[in-house]
Amino acid sequence: MAGAAAIGLALRSGSRLPTPAPGAPSPSPSSEPAAHDPLADEARAAIPDDVPRTGVVHEVTLEAKPVEIPLLEGRPLAVWAYNGQVPGPTLRVRVGDTLRVTLENRLPQPTTIHWHGVRVPNAMDGTPGVTQSAVEPGGRFVYEFVARDAGTFWYHPHVRASEQVERGLYGVLVVEEATPPRYSREIVWVLDDWRLTPSGRVDPAFNTGHDLAHDGRWGQVVTINGIVTPTLSLSPGERVRLRILDSANGRVFAPDFGELFARVIAVDGRDVAAPFDARGFELAPGNRLDVELEAPAGAHGRRFEIVDRYTGQPVALASVVVDARAVASAPASSLPPHVVPAWRDALSRPATSELRLNAERGGPLGIAWTINGRAGSHDHHDGGSGDLAFTLARDRFARLRFVNDSFRIHPMHLHGVFFKVLARNDRPVDEGFMRDTVLVHAKETIDIGVVPRDDGRWMMHCHILEHAEAGMMTLFEVR
Ligand code: C2O
Ligand code: CU
Repeated sequence: MAGAAAIGLALRSGSRLPTPAPGAPSPSPSSEPAAHDPLADEARAAIPDDVPRTGVVHEVTLEAKPVEIPLLEGRPLAVWAYNGQVPGPTLRVRVGDTLRVTLENRLPQPTTIHWHGVRVPNAMDGTPGVTQSAVEPGGRFVYEFVARDAGTFWYHPHVRASEQVERGLYGVLVVEEATPPRYSREIVWVLDDWRLTPSGRVDPAFNTGHDLAHDGRWGQVVTINGIVTPTLSLSPGERVRLRILDSANGRVFAPDFGELFARVIAVDGRDVAAPFDARGFELAPGNRLDVELEAPAGAHGRRFEIVDRYTGQPVALASVVVDARAVASAPASSLPPHVVPAWRDALSRPATSELRLNAERGGPLGIAWTINGRAGSHDHHDGGSGDLAFTLARDRFARLRFVNDSFRIHPMHLHGVFFKVLARNDRPVDEGFMRDTVLVHAKETIDIGVVPRDDGRWMMHCHILEHAEAGMMTLFEVR
C-alpha cells in the first residue's frame, strides 16, 4: 500500500492548451444585450467589466516545494510550501495592476494555481484539463491577469487539493482599492487546522473513509498564519483591518471576538453594503472575512481572547493584548458606500438550475459525493465537455438552487463569478453582500442569484476538499 499517493486520483494532462490571454476579456458581441433586465443592470453596476489599467506589473515567482520549517509551536515540520513559507507569501497589488506569477513546480506531483475569488480570464483559472494542463514536476506556468476587483482573495492548487492544500500550499492575494480606507494597520490572518500523527508530522493518510463520509479532514491543531494562538497587540483606540481566510480543508470557524469591537466590512473580498457585527458569522473553507477590529474604550493593559464557537467545543484562536499606554486614536475610516445588487424580484424568477447535493457508495474512493446524481471527474480530459452541469448566459441574471439532500455540510464555491444568497429554505434573506462560497448546511436549500460577466468553462465545487476529491465538483459554461 503506497499510502497517500495510492489514494489520490490519477491526473492526466488536459487536451486543451492554455491560451495566453492576459488582461480582462473584451466583451464579445455574440450574446444579445441584456439591456432591459433590471437585475442584470444592478449587477453590471456592482461588478465592473473592466478597470483602468495602472500599467504597474508585479512579477512574482512561486516555487512549490517540500520543505521543513518551524511551524505550529516552533518545531520543524515537513510541509509543502510556496517559497518556503506557510502560508505562502501575501501578494499585494492595487486595482488595475497586472500580476504575473511564474509557478515553478518542485513537488512530486502535478499542480496548478487557482486564484480563488478573482475574476481572471478563463485561461488563468488553474483548472487542470479545462483551462490548462496540470504543471508536471519540474515544469512551470505563467499566470497573468489584471486585478479588476479590490479585496481579500487567495491562491491554492487545483490538483489533488485535499492533499496539496493540507500540506501547506495556500496564500493570500490582497488587491487594494485605488483609494484604500484608512486603518492604522492591516493584518492578514490565515486560519487553518492540522491533523498530526502522534509523532507530530502531517498525517499522510489523505481522503480517509471517515473524512470522506463526514465533513472532510478536521485537524486537532488550529493555527493562525501557522502559529498556535498568536497574540496581537493593539493600542487603545487603534482600529485595524483584519483580513481573515479559512484555508482549512473542512473546518468551519465562527470567530467570537468577545468584548472587542469587530465589524464585518467585506465578505469574500467584496465590501458589504453596510458593516455589521462579526459575531456568529460562519467562515467556511474558502471564505474570507474582512473585519474592522478595535479594543473597547478603557481597555488599557487588558487581554482578550478570540475563540471559535462553530462546534460545541470552543477553540482558542488568538489573544489580543491592549497596550497600557494610550495613543492618539487612528483616524476613523470612512467606507465609501458599496453597491450590492438588491435583486428584489429575484425570487420570482424561475430557478435556472437546481443542483442536488448527495452521496452514494462506490467510486474510486468508496464514497462518491454527487451533484444531481453525478460525481465529477478530475482530469476533464475532454476539455470538460462531459462535466458541464449547466450553461449560463453572460450578463444575464440566473437563479441557482442548491438542495442538500445529505446530512453533511457543503461550502459551495463557484469560480469566475460573485453571487448573492437570495433564500434559505425558501425564506428570503438579504445578506447585504456578495460571495463566492456559501455554506449549505445539512438538508438545507439555498437559492443564489448570479450575473456572470466572463465567458468560459468555470468550476463549481464543494470547498470541503475531500468532498470535491470524491466527486462534488462540476463545470458550468458562461457564453
Ligand atoms: Cu478555492 Cu475551486 O477553489
Ligand atoms: Cu461538501
